[in-house]
Amino acid sequence: MTHEAPLLTEGIDMRLDGERLVFGDDVHITRSGQRKVSAMSHMFDAADESDDSILYDTFVDVWEERDHDAFGGGKLGYSLTSIRALPVGEESPKTHGHVHTPKPDGFPPAEAYEVLNGSGVFIMQDMHDGPETTFAVAVHANVGDVVVIPGALYHCSVNAGTERFVFSDLCRRGMSDYYQHVHDAGGFSYKRRADGDFVANSNYASLPELEHVTAEEWSGRRIPPLYRTLRDDPASLEWLRDREAFVREFPRLADFAYPVGLARL
Ligand SMILES: [Fe+2]
Repeated sequence: MTHEAPLLTEGIDMRLDGERLVFGDDVHITRSGQRKVSAMSHMFDAADESDDSILYDTFVDVWEERDHDAFGGGKLGYSLTSIRALPVGEESPKTHGHVHTPKPDGFPPAEAYEVLNGSGVFIMQDMHDGPETTFAVAVHANVGDVVVIPGALYHCSVNAGTERFVFSDLCRRGMSDYYQHVHDAGGFSYKRRADGDFVANSNYASLPELEHVTAEEWSGRRIPPLYRTLRDDPASLEWLRDREAFVREFPRLADFAYPVGLARL
């Protein structure tokens, strides 16, 4: 099925042409990539190791040329991810997921996701040897929702709809993502089935009940669109780079401002 749909971008000229994100002539993309099912086959219950179909596309450090000064020279990077709708076996398509390596000051930089098309779930958890997790949450998000990702929590993104799940993200430029723990654990503690149920990952020695919340419940308030905020009011995004600002802006997430378990890299 091919359809074209404008995306809620608040700044970037782009649209969906079937499965493809198509950008306007003045959109700068620093680099792009793709991840195939074969690279994550052990993280799904029934994936074919030789399945070279693409699970998701990434576009890193993106901006409209007219906004070059705010985006190209700033400390925060704006990126995009587009996850396919087609399930893998009985499971919903998802990203690999990772945790953020703490900076020298000990703060693992935070991140913000904004849903631009479709609907999805951001799964976040801690990780300990075992593997074990003591905390796991599924933040359910629809178009326009912005979700705060504390850098100390492992996070992945799941397409929970029937169309492409497209979201933007803002994070500190030059930050490093750490993937190995998630790889070794065979993915996150919970998997979403295409029928909407969440099932425990049998690789985990112990895990808690999965909490379900909305984006606003998770962060405690509604957060304005990312592109416009970075362009017009970057000072209000200090919480992405600074622990004190993070705790001040999101007091209910303060426990996640410090690395725990394996994330004490
Ligand atoms: Fe991240």
